[in-house]
Amino acid sequence: MKDFLSVDDLNNEEVYGLIRRSLFLKETKTSLNLDKSIVNMFFENSTRTKHSFEMSQKYCNMHVMNFDAQASSIYKGESLYDSVLTMEAIGVDIAVIRHEDDTFYEELKDLKIKIVNAGSGKGAHPSQSLLDMMTIYEHYRKFEDLNILIVGDILHSRVAMSNMKLLHRLGANIHFYGPMEWFKEEFLEFGERVNDIDDLQDVDVVMLHRIQLERHDEKFCISKEDYYNQYGLTPKRYETLKDNAIVLHPAPVNRGIEIDDSLVEASKSKIYEQMRNGVYMRMAILEDVVEERYA
Ligand code: CP
Repeated sequence: MKDFLSVDDLNNEEVYGLIRRSLFLKETKTSLNLDKSIVNMFFENSTRTKHSFEMSQKYCNMHVMNFDAQASSIYKGESLYDSVLTMEAIGVDIAVIRHEDDTFYEELKDLKIKIVNAGSGKGAHPSQSLLDMMTIYEHYRKFEDLNILIVGDILHSRVAMSNMKLLHRLGANIHFYGPMEWFKEEFLEFGERVNDIDDLQDVDVVMLHRIQLERHDEKFCISKEDYYNQYGLTPKRYETLKDNAIVLHPAPVNRGIEIDDSLVEASKSKIYEQMRNGVYMRMAILEDVVEERYA
């Protein structure tokens, strides 16, 4: 495997290896000398993933280019395949790609250029998932038997999809809560549904998710106020968390909808720690991709 596409491609040993490496890079502030050229190709908007990858590429001393989709020949009808092949032809070694298609990378597999998935439709967001694992491990130093509550628009969240698979495999207990309309029976393979979140005293990690309006094609609607009252992390619910519990959210955060405005930067919230950790996890991922560690 030359590409980094999904957490499904990593065994548990490789996941722990990436976590330990990223924590080492964070603790020691080590920079790397990967000396490869890399292009960031974002066909969907991004604040964190794009700039976090760019920061990690700078810490890895890579030669960085940013593909501007809006200004590119995509708008003259050029395909994703031809755009990426062009990057390969001009000498780029690695393409970091975010795309609305759940499996955009399938048609790119035979190219020589290495592909890093920076978010594929509703399918997968492996670097986000691994930085979430890093953040949980940094706090608890284990996954086994942790009670993880995954809340929100689970159906449309590539982060929730990647995380439920990985956390289940690592031995955590998964609980789901959110509107039935945004839930699939298939998720029950990885955990169980709960009926309310008014008492969170048994929860170790709350993982909140944004309502993914851009991916909704059905008619189910809920007002922001109703969503907050039924599914949001309110101060009252937060008060029921045990002292050592943590709150994660991949962001962007809709303050006052998934989580009360006052809690985004509260002591149990690791939301900005997730963003800090993302830089080091992405350095570890890029190092493994360059070295073809999983080949
Ligand atoms: N968490 C995340 O993927 O954020 P962006 O969409 O801003 O990259």
